[in-house]
Amino acid sequence: MGKKILQPPKGTRDYYPELMAKLRWIFDTWRNVSIQHGFVEYDGPIFESLELFRIKSGDEIASQLFHFEDRAGRELAIRPEITPTLARMVAQKANSLPRPIKWFSIPRLSRAERPQRGRLREFFQWNIDIVGSDSVLADAECMFVAIDFLRRIGLTSDIIELQVNSRTIISSLLVDANITPDRHEHIFAIMDKYEKLSDRQFDEYAKQQGLSADELSAVKDILTLKDIDAVSSLTKSQESKEELDKLHQLRDYLHAFGIEDYFVYKPSVVRGLAYYTGIVFEIFDKSTKLRAIAGGGRYDHLIKLFGGPDMPATGFGMGDVVLLELLEELDKIPADITRSGLKFFVIDADKQFFNLALKITSELRKKGISADYSSKRQSLGKQLKSANQAGAKFAIIVGQETADENLITIKNLQTSQQQQIKTDEFIAKADEIE
Ligand code: HAM
Repeated sequence: MGKKILQPPKGTRDYYPELMAKLRWIFDTWRNVSIQHGFVEYDGPIFESLELFRIKSGDEIASQLFHFEDRAGRELAIRPEITPTLARMVAQKANSLPRPIKWFSIPRLSRAERPQRGRLREFFQWNIDIVGSDSVLADAECMFVAIDFLRRIGLTSDIIELQVNSRTIISSLLVDANITPDRHEHIFAIMDKYEKLSDRQFDEYAKQQGLSADELSAVKDILTLKDIDAVSSLTKSQESKEELDKLHQLRDYLHAFGIEDYFVYKPSVVRGLAYYTGIVFEIFDKSTKLRAIAGGGRYDHLIKLFGGPDMPATGFGMGDVVLLELLEELDKIPADITRSGLKFFVIDADKQFFNLALKITSELRKKGISADYSSKRQSLGKQLKSANQAGAKFAIIVGQETADENLITIKNLQTSQQQQIKTDEFIAKADEIE
């Protein structure tokens, strides 16, 4: 019996080249879309002081931290999200940063969650954030970036929806139901579980979390509001009326951006993290079999809380895990992304030409063109097989038929078309060959 093969840690993935090619396609598209919408890239350390994630992210995420002590006894944690880092970075340099602050990042994150469909213990998350604007246009812009990306990869409004709500409105409805603001953060965390549990499970959970029967009934009345009009008819406070106007304005902006058909009002979207203050949103696939594809919203006080100036902020995070699951399920991953990107595979028809094959490979690489060769001296047929396995677009065969050093054969491995060409001429125009 051989030794037992060690397994990767619970909830993590090994990024074999096939998975990596898919991720690379997603990351490149995330990055291109970000840049096209005027965002600039930033990043922070993958671990932070533990305290950073305890200030205002809420109990749930704090309970999912991977944390450790360094040798000097400092308490550190691997980042479960990047928003606190962004807030810390902006707070530190708020006055010298060029405005508007439109930042994006693609951090690798870790949460000690119970692994389940769409949720792992290590994942990547695209972040888009606008800092310094309290206008609802900034919220609309972030939503637009998310939707623009999703539709670009084929996830149109018949497949996904943008579920929007406002914590300000829900807070005022809770106050109207005689639930005082000091309870709201706790109640938001409970409401966040509504769609993830069955009705009975939710009631149980709410009771366990200390909600009275009256509070539960008030919360459920809010959670089952059908649309913005239903909210309008209930809303009493001035603040809440103004926030409703913002939701209408948001819709107008989404309309102008051409993405209004993704919008739905959803009272149960309150978000699990504690720092959100106003408009919040999540993106789901309509079958709702999967967890949220993305989530975000306004967090107007976080930067001040981290010692910076009073700067409103809004943004979202979109993970790679649910996205990949959905794309696989709908067969929307382009077939050619797993191709290696190798252009030429140089083959010697006879081993006397091997040094020439190496020379050609080296000339191609020197010109910045991808090229590889078989390290074993094998038959032409075997080398052609290796060329195909390596995913090369063309095989370059040295010394075939004529045994002439100055003549090579270019074989297109997709169409099998062949042509002969002088070696020097080939090297000179290798980058033009398509
Ligand atoms: P979040 O809702 O915790 O928000 O995460 C956002 C997205 O990250 C989720 O919708 C999901 O796609 C992905 N995600 C979260 N946890 C996991 C997991 N365990 N496995 C796989 N994917 C996961 C935030 O993190 C906020 N910081 C987002 C934000 C940025 N808000 C404002 N700016």
